[in-house]
Amino acid sequence: MKAIQVSTGGGAEVLKLANIDSPKPGYHELLIEVKAAGINRSDVMVREKPDTYGGSKGETIVPGLEVAGIVKEVGDKITSYKVGDEVCALLTQGGYAEEVVVNEKLTMPVPGGLSFTEAASLPEVVFTVWFNVFQQAKIEKGEKLLIHGGTSGIGIMGLQMAKAMGMPTYSTAGTDEKVRFLTDLGVDNAINYKKEDFSEIFKNENIDVILDMVGGDYTRKNLDILAKNGRLCYINGMKGLKPEINLWTIMSKNLILTGSLLKPQSIEVKAKIAREVVQKIWPLLEDKSIEPVIHKTFPLAEAADAHRLMESSDHIGKIVLVMEKN
Ligand SMILES: NC(=O)c1ccc[n+]([C@@H]2O[C@H](COP(=O)([O-])OP(=O)(O)OC[C@H]3O[C@@H](n4cnc5c(N)ncnc54)[C@H](OP(=O)(O)O)[C@@H]3O)[C@@H](O)[C@H]2O)c1
Repeated sequence: MKAIQVSTGGGAEVLKLANIDSPKPGYHELLIEVKAAGINRSDVMVREKPDTYGGSKGETIVPGLEVAGIVKEVGDKITSYKVGDEVCALLTQGGYAEEVVVNEKLTMPVPGGLSFTEAASLPEVVFTVWFNVFQQAKIEKGEKLLIHGGTSGIGIMGLQMAKAMGMPTYSTAGTDEKVRFLTDLGVDNAINYKKEDFSEIFKNENIDVILDMVGGDYTRKNLDILAKNGRLCYINGMKGLKPEINLWTIMSKNLILTGSLLKPQSIEVKAKIAREVVQKIWPLLEDKSIEPVIHKTFPLAEAADAHRLMESSDHIGKIVLVMEKN
C-alpha cells in the first residue's frame, strides 16, 4: 500500500511517498481502507521533530491522527463492526496511508449524510474540544465561550459545537476575511486580533471558558477577562509556553487553569470521549446544526503541499488528504 513516511525531521519536503506492507489487525482492531485522512497542526510538529513529538526514536513513521474509510478486515474479538462498514477513527499515527489498523473503541460510524472527506476531518478536533471544553472545563448551557484561532480546524468545530449546544461564542482571528467567515458561521462576537486588542474589546463580557492555543502574552489577558469561576484551557502555546501571570487574578476570581494533550491519553479516556461525542455531537452533524468546513483536499502524494498550506495559515477550516483509489 502507499503511505507518506517521515524518516528524518525537517520541512515539508521530508514527507515522502512510499510503498509499504499493509498492517494486520490485532484481536481488538479493525483494518480500515482509508478514503480520506485529516491533517492537523500537530502533524507539522511531528514532521519537524519526529523524535520529540512523534515518539519515533529514530524510526521511520507514518503521520496522521484521523481517517475515514471502509472496514476491510476485523480482528477476532470485534463484535460491533463488520467488513464493509463506513467508519472514521482517531489514531496516534499512521493516517497518511491507504490502510490503517485502529482499536475498535476509537472507531465511530461515519455520521449519516457526511462524505468520507468530511468524516475524516472530525475525530481530532471534535475529541479535543469535547475533552477540554466539555469534560475538563465542564461548560454549561448559557455560559460564554471564547476560542482563539477561530478559523483553525479546532476553532471552527469548537465554536459550532458550543453554539449548537446553547453557548454564546466569542473568537479571534488574524484577517478581516477570517472574521467575516466567523460572523457568517454564527459566532456572536469575532474580532481581528491584529487590529484590535481582544482583552480591551471583551473586558466587560464576563467570559466563562476560554480555549487557547496561543499562550504567551495572551495568558495574562485571558485571565483578566475571565468571569468569576472562569476556566482557561490550554491546547498549545504557539506564542510561548512560559508566560508570566499574576496569581492574584486566579485567586481573586476562583479561576481554574487547565490544559491537555489528547494523543498520550489512555484508550479508556479516548473511548469515553468517543462514546460521548457519538451520542451528543453526531446527531448535530446529521441534522446539519454543525457542518464540517473543508478548506481544500490534496491527493495523498501531495501531502507536502498540504503541509505548506497549513503552515501558511491562509486556510479556513480543515485540510484533508484523499486517496487516489477513490
Ligand atoms: N493539545 C491537544 O491535544 C491538541 C489537539 C489538537 C490541536 N491542538 C492545537 O490546536 C491548535 C489548532 O490546531 P489545528 O490543527 O486546528 O490548526 P490550524 O487549522 O492550522 O489553525 C491554526 C491557526 O492558528 C493561528 N496561528 C498560527 N500561528 C499563530 C501564532 N503564532 N499566534 C497566534 N495564532 C496563530 C492561525 O490563524 P490566524 O490567521 O487567525 O492567526 C492558524 O490558522 C494547534 O496549535 C494545535 O497544535 C492541540
